[in-house]
Amino acid sequence: MFVVINSAISVDGKICTKTGESKISSDLDLKRVHKLRCSVDGILVGISTVLKDDPLLSIRLIKCTKAKKTPTRIIIDSNARIPLDSKIVKTAKDIDTVIAVTKGAPRDKLDMLRANNLRIIVSGEQGKKVNLDKAFGQLETKFGIKKILVEGGGEINWSIIKNNLFDEIIVTISPLIIGGRDATTLTEGIGFDKIKKCVKLELSKIHKSNNGEIVVHYNNIGK
Ligand SMILES: NC(=O)c1ccc[n+]([C@@H]2O[C@H](COP(=O)([O-])OP(=O)(O)OC[C@H]3O[C@@H](n4cnc5c(N)ncnc54)[C@H](OP(=O)(O)O)[C@@H]3O)[C@@H](O)[C@H]2O)c1
Repeated sequence: MFVVINSAISVDGKICTKTGESKISSDLDLKRVHKLRCSVDGILVGISTVLKDDPLLSIRLIKCTKAKKTPTRIIIDSNARIPLDSKIVKTAKDIDTVIAVTKGAPRDKLDMLRANNLRIIVSGEQGKKVNLDKAFGQLETKFGIKKILVEGGGEINWSIIKNNLFDEIIVTISPLIIGGRDATTLTEGIGFDKIKKCVKLELSKIHKSNNGEIVVHYNNIGK
């Protein structure tokens, strides 16, 4: 499995304001993200991003020429909290969608999701978070998903980074300072306690836009 994390951040590392506003990057950068979506088999987000942003996670801003098919949407949602009236559920008959849950997810909700054309994978024990390592294995073996684009938020980014499950991270730094300890950062979780334990990255590409944004690409050299 090849995993790319993509995120737009402010100069101070926030991915949204304390009230959850997350439109940080420019339309130009959003087009780049949609182009990136064309190159992957799956687009993955955590359930809080669905609850807060109600995203569609489709390719709209550009026309994919090389895409084999529209990427599968993958929602990491331990207890199947995804609302039935979310855009993701309402469009699941047209866009392939997988929800990764734990054994604790209520069966009746899973049945309702299946009835709405969502596919379910179970990975992790009741009372715990989704086991991402095992979920990635299932996504590859069951659904042939070999390349995933992770689009946040901060908790999911942290879990994927902490478990060393990513190959590349692309960050758009927007010329903004958001501030606030309650504004979500690129990686949440508990963090590493020592610099020597931190994930080491290698700069592979940098692009500066006329609008003051910088897009930086790093490879994970420890995977
Ligand atoms: N600027 C950007 O590029 C960007 C991109 C995306 C999102 N955002 C913003 O980020 C915010 C949401 O970020 P967030 O950090 O609050 O939440 P998140 O990462 O979107 O979702 C976290 C939730 O996923 C579930 N989860 C299940 N298994 C997990 C695991 N193994 N590791 C981590 N989480 C797991 C947990 O809820 P359960 O236990 O209930 O399953 C957890 O609370 C939103 O405000 C959104 O606007 C910004």
